[in-house]
Amino acid sequence: MRDVTVLGIESSCDETAASVVRNGRDMMSSVVLSQIEVHQAFGGVVPEVASRAHTEMMTRVIEQALRDAKTTFSDLDAIAVTYGPGLVGALFVGVTTAKSLALATGLPLIGVHHLAGHMVASALSHGATPPYLVLIASGGHTDLINVLASGEMVRLGKTRDDAAGEAFDKVARAMRLGYPGGPAISEAAKRGDPTRYAFPIAKLPDGPFDFSFSGLKSAVMLVLDKEKRAGKESSIPDLAASFQEAVVQALCAKTEAALLQTGQRTLVLAGGVAANEALRLALRARCDALGVEFVVPPVALCTDNAAMIAAAGYDRYVRGLFDDLTLTGVATASIEAWYAAPATKQ
Ligand code: KG4
Ligand code: ZN
Repeated sequence: MRDVTVLGIESSCDETAASVVRNGRDMMSSVVLSQIEVHQAFGGVVPEVASRAHTEMMTRVIEQALRDAKTTFSDLDAIAVTYGPGLVGALFVGVTTAKSLALATGLPLIGVHHLAGHMVASALSHGATPPYLVLIASGGHTDLINVLASGEMVRLGKTRDDAAGEAFDKVARAMRLGYPGGPAISEAAKRGDPTRYAFPIAKLPDGPFDFSFSGLKSAVMLVLDKEKRAGKESSIPDLAASFQEAVVQALCAKTEAALLQTGQRTLVLAGGVAANEALRLALRARCDALGVEFVVPPVALCTDNAAMIAAAGYDRYVRGLFDDLTLTGVATASIEAWYAAPATKQ
């Protein structure tokens, strides 16, 4: 088969990103413009501010991605864009840009499910191919997805409330560690005692692979409050280490149970929380004990980027699944429905 070159566009949260990928594996360029500094003043992502920043920067980021790849529109075979799930106003910016480009160039348009992008990052970094189990842990998602040999995706579990990264961010905010909270907590945790506080791990008997982190978040806040009222200064490193330990144990326990139930021999870890050293170490140890291969892309491919969207778009191109110009951004989207049909045919 001849080469297939896809332009990927991502704007589902606070990263404005564009990338050119050849044959779903060869990353010719990847430009990621983080809005972290814009949102830091607010202590978290402000949707309206994110949409505005995407609008200001999107076309420039695309130009840069084409330039870095030494590519023009005439070299492209398709335009892939994240259509959901995510912040809907932010998604509109990427989707409208992709549709305008498709209209102007006549190139096919491909709407990509954001979580499918996260899992395909492992193809870019490790050449991973299904079947595998994926744990996606980010600021917006904590999902366990079973990917069958055919490529079919089945979501086994999700978060019932806060996503893992969201819990890191909220707890860090309560500890006055700033935004984003994940890196700050993992740094503080290095100096702390993870056994100092025994925090709860949600059991959720009616959803064996679902996650819940809001009880844990409240437990940390309660300790902070109680110690403050007692005139005691809380040990931030101990609290950070104990909180991190509880998140890691919850993620590991559900993931191990899903590995055992599905019989999958490969685990892929993705999403921004995959940057967490304690989580990587714990999951690797569990995988080693089970004889399961553990795949985790480099951090730049775990956090939001457009190369993963272009790579997922290539898989759609090969299957002949294209969208029309009615494509729009959606806050929630089922990965099973997306796998089965184009986003605009659901
Ligand atoms: O995938 P991502 O870049 O964006 C979303 O789609 O949300 O993930 C960002 C999340 C944030 O919540 C951030 O606090 C968390 O990933 N994160 C971490 C670490 N680095 C980033 N969480 C725990 N430990 C880290 N080292
Ligand atoms: Zn993401």
